[in-house]
Amino acid sequence: MRILVINGPNLDILGKREPDVYGSMSLWDIENRLKEKYPKVKLEFYQSNSEGPLIDALHKALDGSITGVLLNPGAYTHYSYALRDAVAALPVPVIEIHLSNVHAREEFRRTSVIAPMCKGVIAGFGARSYELGVEYLLQQS
Ligand code: DQA
Repeated sequence: MRILVINGPNLDILGKREPDVYGSMSLWDIENRLKEKYPKVKLEFYQSNSEGPLIDALHKALDGSITGVLLNPGAYTHYSYALRDAVAALPVPVIEIHLSNVHAREEFRRTSVIAPMCKGVIAGFGARSYELGVEYLLQQS
Protein backbone atom coordinates (compact mmCIF):
# COMPACT_ATOMS: atom_id res chain seq x y z
CA MET A 1 0.00 0.00 0.00
CA ARG A 2 1.54 3.26 -1.18
CA ILE A 3 -0.17 6.62 -0.60
CA LEU A 4 0.86 10.04 -1.89
CA VAL A 5 0.07 12.92 0.48
CA ILE A 6 0.25 16.15 -1.49
CA ASN A 7 -0.12 19.59 0.06
CA GLY A 8 -0.44 22.88 -1.77
CA PRO A 9 0.33 26.52 -1.07
CA ASN A 10 0.82 27.92 2.42
CA LEU A 11 0.53 24.50 4.05
CA ASP A 12 4.30 24.55 4.64
CA ILE A 13 3.68 27.24 7.29
CA LEU A 14 1.06 25.32 9.26
CA GLY A 15 1.48 25.91 12.97
CA LYS A 16 2.41 29.55 12.35
CA ARG A 17 -0.43 30.30 9.94
CA GLU A 18 -3.78 31.37 11.47
CA PRO A 19 -3.54 28.75 14.25
CA ASP A 20 -7.12 29.49 15.33
CA VAL A 21 -8.24 28.19 11.91
CA TYR A 22 -5.62 25.57 11.06
CA GLY A 23 -4.34 24.45 14.46
CA SER A 24 -0.91 24.53 16.06
CA MET A 25 0.63 21.44 14.43
CA SER A 26 3.21 21.97 11.70
CA LEU A 27 3.00 19.99 8.46
CA TRP A 28 6.01 18.03 9.70
CA ASP A 29 4.05 17.15 12.90
CA ILE A 30 1.07 16.01 10.83
CA GLU A 31 3.26 13.90 8.55
CA ASN A 32 5.08 12.31 11.48
CA ARG A 33 1.83 11.50 13.24
CA LEU A 34 0.59 9.77 10.08
CA LYS A 35 3.84 7.76 9.83
CA GLU A 36 3.54 6.73 13.49
CA LYS A 37 -0.10 5.77 13.17
CA TYR A 38 0.30 3.79 9.93
CA PRO A 39 3.79 2.22 10.06
CA LYS A 40 2.91 -0.43 7.47
CA VAL A 41 1.73 2.06 4.87
CA LYS A 42 4.26 3.61 2.49
CA LEU A 43 3.42 7.29 2.84
CA GLU A 44 5.10 9.73 0.47
CA PHE A 45 4.83 13.40 1.29
CA TYR A 46 5.09 16.35 -1.04
CA GLN A 47 4.39 20.05 -0.60
CA SER A 48 4.71 22.97 -3.01
CA ASN A 49 3.58 26.55 -3.11
CA SER A 50 3.34 26.40 -6.93
CA GLU A 51 0.86 24.80 -9.29
CA GLY A 52 3.26 23.12 -11.76
CA PRO A 53 5.19 21.04 -9.20
CA LEU A 54 1.89 19.92 -7.64
CA ILE A 55 0.73 18.71 -11.07
CA ASP A 56 4.04 16.86 -11.54
CA ALA A 57 3.58 15.25 -8.10
CA LEU A 58 0.06 14.09 -9.05
CA HIS A 59 1.44 12.56 -12.28
CA LYS A 60 3.50 10.16 -10.11
CA ALA A 61 0.21 8.38 -9.38
CA LEU A 62 0.13 7.28 -13.05
CA ASP A 63 2.96 4.80 -12.58
CA GLY A 64 0.73 1.94 -11.39
CA SER A 65 2.27 1.52 -7.95
CA ILE A 66 0.18 4.07 -6.03
CA THR A 67 -2.93 3.01 -4.08
CA GLY A 68 -4.40 6.46 -3.72
CA VAL A 69 -3.73 10.13 -3.14
CA LEU A 70 -4.61 12.55 -0.34
CA LEU A 71 -4.61 16.04 -1.81
CA ASN A 72 -4.96 19.28 0.11
CA PRO A 73 -4.78 21.81 -2.73
CA GLY A 74 -4.95 24.84 -0.39
CA ALA A 75 -6.42 27.87 -2.17
CA TYR A 76 -5.94 26.14 -5.56
CA THR A 77 -9.01 24.11 -4.52
CA HIS A 78 -11.19 27.00 -5.47
CA TYR A 79 -9.90 27.85 -8.96
CA SER A 80 -7.22 25.55 -10.40
CA TYR A 81 -8.56 23.82 -13.50
CA ALA A 82 -5.03 22.56 -14.14
CA LEU A 83 -5.05 20.61 -10.87
CA ARG A 84 -8.58 19.43 -11.62
CA ASP A 85 -7.45 18.05 -15.00
CA ALA A 86 -4.45 16.34 -13.37
CA VAL A 87 -6.74 14.64 -10.83
CA ALA A 88 -9.18 13.61 -13.59
CA ALA A 89 -6.29 11.86 -15.41
CA LEU A 90 -5.48 9.55 -12.49
CA PRO A 91 -6.63 5.93 -12.36
CA VAL A 92 -6.52 5.81 -8.54
CA PRO A 93 -8.79 7.41 -5.90
CA VAL A 94 -7.90 10.95 -4.95
CA ILE A 95 -9.37 12.32 -1.71
CA GLU A 96 -9.58 16.07 -1.26
CA ILE A 97 -8.49 17.01 2.25
CA HIS A 98 -9.03 20.21 4.22
CA LEU A 99 -8.04 20.99 7.77
CA SER A 100 -10.77 23.59 8.14
CA ASN A 101 -14.47 23.27 7.40
CA VAL A 102 -14.40 25.20 4.15
CA HIS A 103 -18.23 25.30 4.09
CA ALA A 104 -18.35 27.28 7.33
CA ARG A 105 -15.99 30.00 6.10
CA GLU A 106 -15.97 32.63 3.34
CA GLU A 107 -18.26 32.12 0.36
CA PHE A 108 -15.38 31.55 -2.12
CA ARG A 109 -14.18 28.54 -0.11
CA ARG A 110 -17.47 26.71 -0.62
CA THR A 111 -16.61 26.05 -4.25
CA SER A 112 -14.11 23.34 -5.15
CA VAL A 113 -13.32 22.90 -8.84
CA ILE A 114 -11.32 19.77 -7.90
CA ALA A 115 -13.85 17.89 -5.74
CA PRO A 116 -16.00 16.64 -8.67
CA MET A 117 -12.94 14.68 -9.90
CA CYS A 118 -12.26 13.19 -6.45
CA LYS A 119 -13.55 10.08 -4.75
CA GLY A 120 -14.61 12.24 -1.81
CA VAL A 121 -13.83 15.23 0.34
CA ILE A 122 -12.84 15.30 4.04
CA ALA A 123 -12.94 18.75 5.60
CA GLY A 124 -13.04 20.28 9.04
CA PHE A 125 -11.32 17.71 11.24
CA GLY A 126 -7.93 19.43 11.48
CA ALA A 127 -4.97 17.06 11.25
CA ARG A 128 -7.41 14.16 11.63
CA SER A 129 -8.77 14.89 8.13
CA TYR A 130 -5.61 13.24 6.74
CA GLU A 131 -5.99 10.19 9.00
CA LEU A 132 -9.58 9.72 7.90
CA GLY A 133 -8.36 9.78 4.31
CA VAL A 134 -5.80 7.03 5.02
CA GLU A 135 -8.52 5.01 6.81
CA TYR A 136 -10.69 5.12 3.69
CA LEU A 137 -7.85 3.98 1.43
CA LEU A 138 -6.94 1.16 3.86
CA GLN A 139 -10.50 -0.12 3.88
CA GLN A 140 -10.95 -0.12 0.14
CA SER A 141 -7.64 -1.84 -0.66
C1 DQA B 1 -7.44 24.65 3.24
C2 DQA B 1 -8.67 25.53 2.95
C3 DQA B 1 -8.39 26.49 1.80
O1 DQA B 1 -9.54 27.31 1.55
C4 DQA B 1 -7.23 27.39 2.13
O2 DQA B 1 -6.93 28.23 1.04
C5 DQA B 1 -6.03 26.62 2.57
C6 DQA B 1 -6.21 25.50 3.49
C7 DQA B 1 -7.66 23.76 4.48
O3 DQA B 1 -6.91 22.80 4.63
O4 DQA B 1 -8.53 24.02 5.30
O5 DQA B 1 -4.90 26.96 2.24
O6 DQA B 1 -7.22 23.80 2.13
